[in-house]
Amino acid sequence: MVRRGFFPGSFDPITNGHLDVIRAGLTVCDELIVGVGQNPNKTPTLPVEVRCALIERIARELPQGTERPATVRAVGFSGLLVKTAREMGANILLRGLRDGADFDYEMQMTGMNAAMEPELETIFVPARPANRHITATLVRQIAQMGGDISPFVPQAVAQALATTKSPS
Ligand code: PNS
Repeated sequence: MVRRGFFPGSFDPITNGHLDVIRAGLTVCDELIVGVGQNPNKTPTLPVEVRCALIERIARELPQGTERPATVRAVGFSGLLVKTAREMGANILLRGLRDGADFDYEMQMTGMNAAMEPELETIFVPARPANRHITATLVRQIAQMGGDISPFVPQAVAQALATTKSPS
């Protein structure tokens, strides 16, 4: 059976913490699809196409295992994540965990998702200690205020945000 992982999130922008989840996903999945959620009520800092392109580029530059060349694709989605996961043929749902607050929320979401899509197995990836403080919300705020975000995100993201005019 092909182990196809689905890793949903906003990725506005993708951070070093997200990258840890992708890295871990590549060790357990044959294929990994990163789902970039589109919230019609929010104006993202980076358009969904840019977020997808950044994710695929950054994932391509990750060192790959020699035995199993897993692929990473990024797709935009809206609506229920389990519906997209099903349409994509995913059997593994990946989510990152940073702390207890994440855990409580993620456990609720996992229970609801499992009730809707029992075949989809959720796997949590704990944040590496070096990255557990990183949130995309704070990264956006620091970038908007002219701070240095390079410790928190891949270099390509720092460059993309430096040239992006953020929505007011
Ligand atoms: O990690 P994030 O950025 O908070 O991820 C947000 C995302 C896109 C995963 C979230 O908005 C989402 O789950 N959207 C899909 C809606 C859905 O499936 N809701 C029911 C969850 S039980």
